[in-house]
Amino acid sequence: RASPLVDTFARRHTYLRISLTERCNLRCTYCMPADGVPLSPKCSLLSTDEVVRLARLFVQQGVTKIRLTGGEPTVRKDLLDVIAGLDELRPLGLAAIGMTTNGVALKRKLPALLASGLDQLNISLDTLDPVRFEQMTRRKGLDAVLDSIRAAVDMPFLAVKLNAVVIKGTNDDELAGFVRMTRDLPLYVRFIEYMPFDGNKWNKETFLPYKDMLARIAAEFPSITKTADDPNDTSKSYQVDGFRGRFGFITSMSEHFCGTCNRLRLLADGNMKVCLFGNAEVNLRDAMRRGASDDELVQLVNLAVHRKKKQHAGMFELARMPNRPMILIGGCPSTR
Ligand code: GTP
Ligand code: 5AD
Ligand code: SF4
Repeated sequence: RASPLVDTFARRHTYLRISLTERCNLRCTYCMPADGVPLSPKCSLLSTDEVVRLARLFVQQGVTKIRLTGGEPTVRKDLLDVIAGLDELRPLGLAAIGMTTNGVALKRKLPALLASGLDQLNISLDTLDPVRFEQMTRRKGLDAVLDSIRAAVDMPFLAVKLNAVVIKGTNDDELAGFVRMTRDLPLYVRFIEYMPFDGNKWNKETFLPYKDMLARIAAEFPSITKTADDPNDTSKSYQVDGFRGRFGFITSMSEHFCGTCNRLRLLADGNMKVCLFGNAEVNLRDAMRRGASDDELVQLVNLAVHRKKKQHAGMFELARMPNRPMILIGGCPSTR
């Protein structure tokens, strides 16, 4: 049998993103079409035990990091049970358990999340202005997110990142404001290049490449140092000299990082995707519910990994291609 989770371009897949729900307590314009998305019925979503069973198989195949996403993972009632189930996989080789959340309903859940085993938290926030927050997310909640961020950075043993999607003409005047947050907070602020998905308004007028973002930041903060990145990082990191935190860019569009991609995705409905921009390759829920053995599931996963393409199609092609809205892929970012 071929090496586990290695594709035909010799990429080893050690990072699994699991979307726990398609639901969200926000309605971000870039992530979700205005009229919402048709949600899968509850019985078609993976149960706690199904998530943990699949996670164990992936860890046995070499996955060392798992990130929980959504929709918004904190709306899932069994979130703590899932994390506790993943925490039991550490002796098998799982080293990190992360979650990406919009932070709206996070603050009071933080202690229990940490106690269950969470050690990496990414919080999405695209604006520091309350009126704009409501325009971008179609909901109120900026103060709750800011409170969650402050509480999260105070937690011991928790690495905290802030994700801001930058949309030209909407929030690109806020780069300096976010960088300023890193003066006193030990936070890694990452500016994300806006990506095209079904139902969002991506076009070249709303797209701001990271080099332009960096130039604008450098004009405001003249002494900036490039800091080291891990080989599979999605981001390029920098620091304003003397600041506690860092800032960086996720350059999925202008300089993709497909060559070092180590990610696989499991969607809330059990579909597995080998690329954020690709089609769902196989439904592991259906296989499990038909009674597939662990070996059969592992074989299905590896067949899908073997079909993984070298890189995504390029930004203008992506804008023309159908892909599920980000909310269904594990956006807080699915193609059947
Ligand atoms: P870390 O594990 O902390 O590095 O987080 P992450 O960047 O992998 O995940 P997060 O959920 O914080 O996602 C932030 C952004 O990373 C997303 O909005 C995407 O822009 C980008 N991203 C995440 N996964 C992928 C992927 O598989 N492919 C591409 N092209 N971009 C991705
Ligand atoms: N382009 C870039 N990032 C996006 N996200 C959601 N939709 C998009 C998009 N169209 C971000 C969320 C979250 C991360 C996981 O993906 O804001 O931070
Ligand atoms: Fe919800 Fe995140 Fe999508 Fe916003 S980006 S609608 S917070 S899943």
